[in-house]
This record gives sequence, C-alpha cells and structure tokens, in this order.
Amino acid sequence: MNAPLPSCHDARGDGPARRPFLGFGLGLRPEHYAAVLETRPAVDWFEVISENYLVDGGKPLHFLDRIREHYPMVMHGVSLSIGSSDPLDLDYLAGLKRLAGRIQPEWISDHLCWTGIDGRNLHDLLPLPYTEEAIAHVAGRVSRVQDYLGRRILLENVSSYVTYTDSRVPEWEFLTAVAERADCWILLDVNNVHVSAHNHGFDALDYLGGVPSERVRQIHLAGHSHNGSLLIDTHDHPVPDPVWELYVEAIARLGPVSTMIERDDDIPPLAVLLDELARARALATSTDRRRSPSRVFKA
Ligand SMILES: [Fe+2]
Repeated sequence: MNAPLPSCHDARGDGPARRPFLGFGLGLRPEHYAAVLETRPAVDWFEVISENYLVDGGKPLHFLDRIREHYPMVMHGVSLSIGSSDPLDLDYLAGLKRLAGRIQPEWISDHLCWTGIDGRNLHDLLPLPYTEEAIAHVAGRVSRVQDYLGRRILLENVSSYVTYTDSRVPEWEFLTAVAERADCWILLDVNNVHVSAHNHGFDALDYLGGVPSERVRQIHLAGHSHNGSLLIDTHDHPVPDPVWELYVEAIARLGPVSTMIERDDDIPPLAVLLDELARARALATSTDRRRSPSRVFKA
C-alpha cells in the first residue's frame, strides 16, 4: 500500500478519560468483500477476525489490503485463550503482531475466556471461575500480551451457559478487576450481557452499572437463538429488540462508544446489515443527545 491508511487516531489520546470514538462499524465477512469494494458503503470502520488473515498470501489478505485502503480497521481474535493454564501461544502472538504491522488497526481485542487445555482446542469461548486466583492469573497474562504487542488490548465479555461453584463475585466485578489490574480496555458485547443475564438470572442493568465506563472502548451488537430455557449466542439472527433496548441503556450510561454489528452465520446481503447499522447509529445519536444535548455525536 502506498497511500496513507485511513485512521481515526487524533489528539484525543489514549488515556482512560478520553475514549477514541470510531463511529459505527461492521464485522468484515468474506461474503461481502466484493460488495464493499464495489459500493464503498457508509461504514465508519470494519472489525476483522484476526485468525482469517494469519496465513501469508491468498485471497483473504488480498481483499483485506484493498479494503484497508478505504476503511479504518480493528482486529478481533478468538484464539488468545487468555484464561487457560496452558502457556501463551507465542506463534499466535507473533502472527497477531505481524498482522497489526500490516493493517495498523485502531486496536486488538479477544475474549475473557479460555478455549482449551493441555494443547487441545475446544473451539468454544468458555467462562472462567470468578475468583481472586483467576483474576491474578488472567491479569498477569494480559500484561504479558500487552508488553509483547506494545499496546493495550480489549477483552470482551462472553456469553455463558455454565457457572462455577467456586465463583465469588459477579461476572462484571471479575471483568472490572481484570481490566483494572492488567490496565486493559473492555469490549462490551451487549448481546452477551443479555444472553448471560437470561441464562443465569441476573439483571443486565446491574452488569451495565458495574462496568467502569472509562474502560469500555467498543460495543458489539448481535443476535442469538432460543434453545429451551437457554439463549445461545449464535450470531445468526438480526439484533433483537431486548438487545436494542439494552444498547440504549448502555449508551445512556457510557456515552459515545464505537459500536458494530457482529453477524457470523446465515449472513444476509450487506444492505441488510447496513440497515441494522443505521438503526444503531440513530438510537445512539438520539440517546446521547438526551444525555448531553450540546454534544455532536459523530466519528
Ligand atoms: Fe461479540
């Protein structure tokens, strides 16, 4: 790439009190590569799945480079397994660092979870016991990752279907403790809050109220599925009304936060996701205007 990459960095700085605001984005999916390049949709930024671009050459990197010429990007991973007791995967981290050098993302995120043990990948984002031991374990690993990457990362709350009898604090206190001890940021998935609140019987508003506003740098919006008494985080449906309602509550408490629609299965045409993104933009704008009438809410 010869031309300068588009970027949202400005003089707002990187401190906790001055959150960069990228606007409204989408998850970049291969189904939309061609449409994005041909139509240049009004998307403020794209989130890319890091694992899809770690192999040199080929079609994914070709499209990534071309789309990056026109849009800011953030990197989102699923393989860090920050909660596992296995050693950190240094080859994976090296791949992340190479990719970050290539596309200069605004930030890099993964999940507050573990995905395997004894070298075996369980291909799921599994919750941790909410204990002091786990806080110390995860925070130490986050610090090592951040030292290696040379930047703070974002950790996302996951949907969960089990709890541990050892847990001593609610999930939001665990997330907060890890973020503050490791000095990392939070990616707040509003759908995951809704899904876990339903599955475990806590109040989603308690979750929103318990997360430190100054550490939330990004929001995910997504859909889910119903399976008996459980909600399952499948990302194969439009964002449902309860998640939109919780999003409004989140913006009312947090103010402007970079927001994106996350769709991973049964992926519709790009225009459908753009309609959802427009709804997010409209809701956030009207909510924040009520919260701070004088503020101009834009990226
Ligand atoms: Fe998410």
